[in-house]
Amino acid sequence: MISYSDGKEDLENWIVSELGFHPDTLGKSEAIMCLGNGYMGLRSATEEPYMKETRNLFVNGTFNKAQVNEVTELPNLADVTKIDIRIDGERFSLEFGEKKDYIRQINLKTAELTRIFEWTSPKGKKLSFEFKRFVSLHNLHLIGMKMTVKSLSDPVQISFDSGINAQMSNSGAQHFLEGDRRIVDKKIIQLVQTTNESKVDVVINTTHKIMINGEEIVKDPEMNMARRKVWLTYDFSLQPNDILEMEKLTTVYTSRDKEYKNSDYQIHTLQESSLKDLQDCLEKGYDLLFQSSKKEWKNKVWNAYNFEIKSEDSFDQIALRFSLYHLTIMTPAHDERMGIAAKALSGEGYKGHSFWDTELFILPFFIFSNPEVAKSLLTYRYHGLEGARKKAVENGYLGAMFPWEAAWPTDGEVTPKLGDIDIITGEQTKIWSGFIEQHISADITFAVYQYYSVTGDIEFMDDYGYEIIFDTASFWASRLEWNDEKQEFHINNVIGPDEYKEHVNDNAFTNYMAYFNMKLAIRYYEKLKKENSVVLKNLTEQLNLDESYKLWQLKAEKTFLPMPREKDLVIPQDDTYLQLKEIDISKYKNQEKVRTIYRDFNPAQINTFQVTKQADTLLLFYLLQQTFLQDDNRISETVKQANFNYYEPKTLHDSSLSLATHSILANDIGDMDLAYSLFKKSCEVDLGQMMNTSDDGIHAAAIGGIWKGAVFGFAGIRLRDGLLSIRPKLPKHWHHMKFTIHWRAQPVTFFLTSSTLSVKVENKGKVAFEMYGKTYECNDFIEIKLDSME
Ligand code: BGC
Repeated sequence: MISYSDGKEDLENWIVSELGFHPDTLGKSEAIMCLGNGYMGLRSATEEPYMKETRNLFVNGTFNKAQVNEVTELPNLADVTKIDIRIDGERFSLEFGEKKDYIRQINLKTAELTRIFEWTSPKGKKLSFEFKRFVSLHNLHLIGMKMTVKSLSDPVQISFDSGINAQMSNSGAQHFLEGDRRIVDKKIIQLVQTTNESKVDVVINTTHKIMINGEEIVKDPEMNMARRKVWLTYDFSLQPNDILEMEKLTTVYTSRDKEYKNSDYQIHTLQESSLKDLQDCLEKGYDLLFQSSKKEWKNKVWNAYNFEIKSEDSFDQIALRFSLYHLTIMTPAHDERMGIAAKALSGEGYKGHSFWDTELFILPFFIFSNPEVAKSLLTYRYHGLEGARKKAVENGYLGAMFPWEAAWPTDGEVTPKLGDIDIITGEQTKIWSGFIEQHISADITFAVYQYYSVTGDIEFMDDYGYEIIFDTASFWASRLEWNDEKQEFHINNVIGPDEYKEHVNDNAFTNYMAYFNMKLAIRYYEKLKKENSVVLKNLTEQLNLDESYKLWQLKAEKTFLPMPREKDLVIPQDDTYLQLKEIDISKYKNQEKVRTIYRDFNPAQINTFQVTKQADTLLLFYLLQQTFLQDDNRISETVKQANFNYYEPKTLHDSSLSLATHSILANDIGDMDLAYSLFKKSCEVDLGQMMNTSDDGIHAAAIGGIWKGAVFGFAGIRLRDGLLSIRPKLPKHWHHMKFTIHWRAQPVTFFLTSSTLSVKVENKGKVAFEMYGKTYECNDFIEIKLDSME
């Protein structure tokens, strides 16, 4: 069971606990209590091994192809967390003997993982154990572990094996060559391995410090080496009440690290410098190193984002903190050549690949809260233009066709070709997304537009943004298919966000977003013509813009955009959806696990039902109402309401991305109860009580959705065609909400209750915003009464 109320006093609503040890559902806490810092992610497997454990250590950007016929993925690095413990020769395991008061916790405030319990061995030896662990936010290469064991009853002999185990794989797939191992001065272990295809070197160093009753014990351990494994065996006698403390410090470095980007790289320099770093860490010790990391969390995360929810249900506050915690540890803020993985760095699911999840579901948090990081993530997409152009050429198009799944920026498309079992044919289903789920190019353009509108970062646009927007517009212009009879352009044979509908024509989301992409390119081209001829000239030479501009103009105007139906204003999700059979989906709507519909039907059958996997047409309203298309009648408030009423009951939210969008829209249309219940479900995707939801890793986009649901939904913050707009609607049981966002380089703090909104511009710059048709300007502090505003 997961508990949310164990934090007391200054830790109130900061602690997520697992009560009791459950060997069958280890994946849950391993993933939701994952540690990391964006450079690396360490899944929180227990020290002692269990059958159903998954040990993962990923370093962002180290992609490799295990076999020629496989797609590239983040390799699971050698493990340093396993410690094999024996008490008087009996192996320590919670599956034997008796355990008492078992509790495992992640402290979101300090990012430290702890595990405490008492254990009586089968032979009756009683001991207390405490394990602590952190991945430093201060030194991105550092993992700290600490084990404290106390003998409570008898004199005991405790021995343990601890070292580096490179017998790891990604579900069996092996990414590394054997590698080199060495033990320096009987103290520091070093492992050097190289990925078999991408040739990324990984250097891991680890060392131990042992204390008994506070005094360091200097005793040579037994040194061991086996295939892909190197470890030390320690052995100590403990009298009753003796306390043994073992600190294990590890550093992880790779040849992908940014400092080697342009410099001459030598493996031995990396070996030596990483060793030196570990030696320096060893002098400081766990506690001091942890304090530095904790301080970084305080300054860089909690003080910077300043998020507070006072709710009658404290789960809401902890969910927000959980979201900010994971958003921090999943994001490679240190390197603009890297993206965010769909399962973050907390599991093997989706192979460490980045999807549209980043741009539409995670990036908004960074755009509004930490624009520097948002810029880095968009720069990753800029670097991806090479792969996107390659994909366009391979598919017979022009411009930039972004991959559905992305890894190293230049890799291009990396979506696997085969997926789960087809319950009818018994074969693996073909994954079509890499071929025909194409909306991602427009999603990335939307993200650039949102970033620029919120930050005003013209330099980014000149260097990267315009190029992305122009080249994706050119992709769409070449992608459109002319229908001579109708005298308009169509987009046939795609998958929209609703992946339960494959090979559809004119998916409304795709067509409107392609239209938006081309219209935006036209606007920016015209803007540059007036304002920056130098940038325009450079881009024109590179991308043949004069010709492209004419094409965008011609084609955008003639792109078929499905209209709201006359009888009920519903926009057809695609050209057949509204004619498909309607089935009773209540069984699947109430499911405890997602995608249970696959137990009854195969993809071909689901293709014939009016069942939607996730927010599709509805997402259009949420996105386009933020843009210069906001006044288009086809996406008006009335049409939005009609479409929400039609599609929400048909949407299974079988992708965790979906809930937050529907929650925000439910808020917009005034269905507050539904908005809150969808928000809550979105918080529960990982943090809730279902014990198997996160086995493959946490759901990064759903976690971004928690922040979005609170800020865009309940606080009603929204970009509207270049303006900041606010429509607050706090849930009934929320007393207040406080957070800081960045608007045009100004940090602005909002404090909201059901009756008042206060806005504080932190640096006394000028910030303008709109609320219910009235414009406000603020350069210090303003308080607005909300009663009767609507
Ligand atoms: C969803 C996609 C999403 C992917 C990765 C799929 O199940 O349908 O929209 O991008 O998961 O999270």
